[in-house]
Amino acid sequence: MGHPLLRQVASPVADFQSGELAGLVADMDDTLRALNGAGIAAPQIGVSLRVVIFEVTENPRYLHVSAVPYTVLINPTVTALDGAEEEGWEGCLSVPGMRGLVPRARRVRYQGFDLAGAPIDRTVEGFHARVVQHEVDHLDGILYPQRVRDLKDFGFEDALGERVTPMPD
Ligand code: NI
Repeated sequence: MGHPLLRQVASPVADFQSGELAGLVADMDDTLRALNGAGIAAPQIGVSLRVVIFEVTENPRYLHVSAVPYTVLINPTVTALDGAEEEGWEGCLSVPGMRGLVPRARRVRYQGFDLAGAPIDRTVEGFHARVVQHEVDHLDGILYPQRVRDLKDFGFEDALGERVTPMPD
């Protein structure tokens, strides 16, 4: 948090055939797995392109969080559906050790392309919808603390203690 690249609007991917794109996604995969995260956006590893990946596997630590299939999402758009919002705790690999309570659309439709350039079009809700909104925010230069409504609901995970529902970053 604080790096200028994380405040930039990232550029769309123009060339799906390039080895660079595949290399970028491989680096993002490695980083996400090494840090045990739920999602990561290209700007978080220093590349200002509209690429995010996410995956949530069943984990006994996060019983309330349903699994999200491994997804590479390129040039995404997200549309909030039905206007309902819900608040949930979030963390971020770029804001280590911290958690904040963030309102998000409960249900969204997201569209974009996978690594092969094939279209993706999904309607999701709950944690899946939250992860997508968080990651796509990164592509528009927004980190989740900017969306915390009351800074009393933002702090170190250790200090917040039992208020925070445990979840992957
Ligand atoms: Ni993040």
